[in-house]
Amino acid sequence: MKAVINGVTVGYTDQENGTPLVFVHAFPLSKAMWQPQVDALEDTYRVITIDLRGHGESDTVLWNDTLDDYAEDVIGLLDYLGISQAIFIGLSMGGYTLFSIYRNYTDRVQAMILADTRAQADSEEGKAGRRAMAQVAFNDGASAIADMMLPKLLAPSTMEHRPEMVEQVRQMILQTPTTGIIVDLMAMAARPDSTDLLPNITCPTLVIVGEDDQATPVAESQYIAQGIHGSTFVTIPQAGHLSNFEQPATFNQALISFLEKFRL
Ligand code: MLT
Repeated sequence: MKAVINGVTVGYTDQENGTPLVFVHAFPLSKAMWQPQVDALEDTYRVITIDLRGHGESDTVLWNDTLDDYAEDVIGLLDYLGISQAIFIGLSMGGYTLFSIYRNYTDRVQAMILADTRAQADSEEGKAGRRAMAQVAFNDGASAIADMMLPKLLAPSTMEHRPEMVEQVRQMILQTPTTGIIVDLMAMAARPDSTDLLPNITCPTLVIVGEDDQATPVAESQYIAQGIHGSTFVTIPQAGHLSNFEQPATFNQALISFLEKFRL
């Protein structure tokens, strides 16, 4: 499905019935990464997935977006669908986007699932790394980014023993336009620190992380969970950064237990 949100054509899926669960994807992927959750939850919940601008079926824009713009698109889609409150699930860059949503649209958030993400802004070294990666994307395209990102996204055991999954994730990256990749990198480098937000988060929150996450290691999620009063913290064995995709059964069970615990 497609809708024009904030002047940009945005691709999304919507199951239309039940409590809305809104899934926000990671860098440099698309809503396709949530297929295992769509399959498991669509009969029970109103599952909504969105392609952030510059990804999947959404248009790419050539100006300098921020993660706040991504958050505006998610909220704009909910406005378009007539949804006032939802449960938001964001993984990594999707988690950064959720921090922006919570900061600016607190009342829209019924509950949050922050997966494989971090609260801190980039260090100066991290920002320099983003600029270097943007240059690689500009010079060599998405396939060079796939080579750099796959070992960060997937656990070493997945890289070694699950070639079909590695290929699936590679294909998702290859479908992301170079401009989308570059805009993501600039947007992530410019994102604010969300550490101060953590003690102000009062909605039910689940923090999930793959035990072998190389990109945002377990300690980053522990830090988020310790900062959010009453949050639930779950680690996913045999998963890296893309924990929802590598171990969908365990990830989905953690999600369902959390939703049931809070009667959501
Ligand atoms: C992601 O998965 O969205 C990225 O690894 C996030 C990041 O690079 O900070």
